[in-house]
Order: sequence, then C-alpha cells, then structure tokens
Amino acid sequence: MTKIELTVDGARVTDDVEPRLLLVQYLREKLGKTGTVVGCDTSNCGACTVHLDGRSVKSCNVLAVQADGAEVLTIEGLADTHDGDGLHPVQEAFRECHGLQCGFCTPGMIMQSVDLLAENPHPTEQEVRDGLEGNLCRCTGYHNIVRAVLHAAGGAR
Ligand code: FES
Ligand code: FES
Repeated sequence: MTKIELTVDGARVTDDVEPRLLLVQYLREKLGKTGTVVGCDTSNCGACTVHLDGRSVKSCNVLAVQADGAEVLTIEGLADTHDGDGLHPVQEAFRECHGLQCGFCTPGMIMQSVDLLAENPHPTEQEVRDGLEGNLCRCTGYHNIVRAVLHAAGGAR
C-alpha cells in the first residue's frame, strides 16, 4: 500500500491505496464520489473526466498515486468553485440549453467544458467541437451540448 495525501473537492484526504488503483476507482469506491462515472475504462469516452491541479484528465487513465499532493475537482465540487449560489455557470448552461439526454456523459462533458473555457473563454463552434472531441455522448446529443458551451461562453462575456 502507498500513502497518498490530496485535496478532493476542497477537502483534504489521506489514504493508503494500492499502487495499481485508478483515480476513478479511488474517487468512486473509496470517497463515494459517484458523480464521476466510468463509461469505457479505456480512456476513450471522457465520462470520467475530472480536474487534476486545474486541468482536465480522464481519471480512468490516472493512478490514484499520481494524484498524491494534487488538487482534484470532480463534478460534485464544481458548484462550490463558483461565487454565486447554486450551479456553476456551465452546469446552468447545460440545464438551460438541454445539453443532456440520459446524462451519463454529462459530468465529463461539463468538466471538460470548464477547462476548455478556462483556456479559451470565447471559443468558436468549431473550437468547442474540437475541445470536446475526447468526450463521447452515446445519445448523440452533441448539438445541444455545443450550444450549451457557447451559451456559457456568452454568459461569461
Ligand atoms: Fe475514462 Fe471512458 S471511463 S475515458
Ligand atoms: Fe446520454 Fe450523453 S446524454 S450519453
């Protein structure tokens, strides 16, 4: 077992983990952060996307021990990073633009979108599509997802 210390959604956590444990398994099975989901387990779908020190990563492609000393943000802590009450503006934009159908891809889509907008606050439609190319929606709801990200960008202007 290896000792890790990290911050998850603003809370300090210390744990002993097996070196082979994936970050997504750690978040879901040890911390109960089931808002982060597993869609493929092969780093293809992006459903497991979280932020590691402020940048989006596919948490099925990161070992828990690699997050030692890092700050992890999941969909469950995202609203708290925003000053206002309630949802983060990107969450609100997905709600307003109906950027989801079954919702399975939504946590990863939103975490990826927040990172995308942090890098490029005023993206074109093509830049949004390119930025989300690593996130798959099995419901093929891409049109409204892209609209939601553009709406969030507009709201931030
Ligand atoms: Fe991680 Fe699909 S579960 S990319
Ligand atoms: Fe169902 Fe995207 S809304 S997978």
